[in-house]
Amino acid sequence: MGVVKKICCIGAGYVGGPTCAVIAHQCPDIKVTIVDLSQARINAWNSNNLPIYEPGLDEIVFGARGKNLFFSTDVEGAILEADLIFVSVNTPTKKSGMGAGMAADLAYVESATRKIAEVAKSSKIVVEKSTVPCRTAESMRTILDANSHDHIRFDLLSNPEFLAEGTAISDLLNPDRVLIGALQTPEGLKAQQALAEVYSHWVPRDRVITTNLWSSELSKLAANALLAQRISSINALSAICEATGADVDEVAYAVGKDTRIGPKFLKASVGFGGSCFQKDILNLTYLAESLNLPEVAAYWHQVVIMNEYQKKRFVKRIITKLFNTITNKKIAVFGFAFKKDTGDTRESAAITLIKDFIDEHAHVRLYDPKVEESQIWIDLSDVSGADAAKKHVTLFPDPYSAAEDADAVVIVTEWDEFRDTKLDYQRIYDSMKKPACIFDGRLILDANKLRKIGFKVDVIGKNELAGKA
Ligand code: NAI
Repeated sequence: MGVVKKICCIGAGYVGGPTCAVIAHQCPDIKVTIVDLSQARINAWNSNNLPIYEPGLDEIVFGARGKNLFFSTDVEGAILEADLIFVSVNTPTKKSGMGAGMAADLAYVESATRKIAEVAKSSKIVVEKSTVPCRTAESMRTILDANSHDHIRFDLLSNPEFLAEGTAISDLLNPDRVLIGALQTPEGLKAQQALAEVYSHWVPRDRVITTNLWSSELSKLAANALLAQRISSINALSAICEATGADVDEVAYAVGKDTRIGPKFLKASVGFGGSCFQKDILNLTYLAESLNLPEVAAYWHQVVIMNEYQKKRFVKRIITKLFNTITNKKIAVFGFAFKKDTGDTRESAAITLIKDFIDEHAHVRLYDPKVEESQIWIDLSDVSGADAAKKHVTLFPDPYSAAEDADAVVIVTEWDEFRDTKLDYQRIYDSMKKPACIFDGRLILDANKLRKIGFKVDVIGKNELAGKA
């Protein structure tokens, strides 16, 4: 395979959409077609209201769409004409059968791969973009070889995506690195170079890392496991801080100044969410278990256990501070997305928290600036049942109305608009029941400033002893 001229991306989700839109934007000489089975999703990509919220995404899509960037449900047509195909479909945790609750569900990867084999009439480079267990490329290759028409060559590459939701466009435009794994055969290396050439339109060559296939697959799981482990580590320390009077922000700052540790990803919080961290650590844990490495599996699994503990601990703290009961109390929840600058709610800590509030028969008054209402009801019905969700949760169009007459405000997502520099907390205080409590699950508020207003403030990783003798 020489120069790539036509790219097809199977899967128009959080990864396929932004990734391939940026490729189209940066490579006007390449035609990029992003396909999906979901007509609704493709319609949204072709509209003025894109299906996902990402800062900077609109400009990129609107700039290239209709020129060299296309969104379509014609999966077969796009496969037929492409030189290179990204497989960017979802790989959620399996819900049933062998490995349920741990292993990645590879059904979507398999069906996309079978489709490529069935349709292709010329040789293709097939690229794993989805996050998959180590050695998935081997299964894909077997499927392709067993089902393809005569004389068609498929070269498989692994090119995992490291973007973070909320910063996807800047991550894609200026990546720390691009990783491309290939079989170490002359054909594999040639395909690797062809994809490296695509990225070289805007990524400096020294940031394009080439490895063998298995290193590339494992590196994606390893990166997510290490990132999530840092969050669970600082969250484990936040519990010690609360019990001792140490301040978790001060500890994180002091520790992060050590250049061997570094300052990033050391922000204590109510716990990590998102579609990837938990899923990928469970995936790594399952891989270790299937390799008969139980100690390794237990080590990584602890990261997830700590995350669940952090969410439960936060709820318990809220109940304790609200005089040991929240039954019939009004709790204003600020934020439902799993983090700021995205409308994605997958594995959001808010879902777990609100479920616990519903179980305690509290009245939840919820506001999020970006999450669609319908998505909130889907998520809450999933964990609490539709009736209980509707009975105990009310959605509000802004934080002020959500906080009216509430006993407590709980900050769950770190949206900038919730900061005390943006929101009028005096107005919020005046409209709340007294004592007015505020629980900062994201460490975004100046607790002293709010205490001066009259709030009782509770922050993860800090207690009233912090700062006192
Ligand atoms: P998503 O669920 O948003 O998108 C996947 C899309 O694939 C869906 O629109 C679905 O309809 C489509 N699809 C599934 N099977 C198909 C088929 N056979 N033919 C055509 N379309 C099909 O998932 P997301 O978040 O984009 O994730 C995709 C992969 O990227 C996953 O493996 C994930 O672990 C990985 N990843 C996700 C990141 C994230 O931040 N969301 C970051 C890095 C990697």
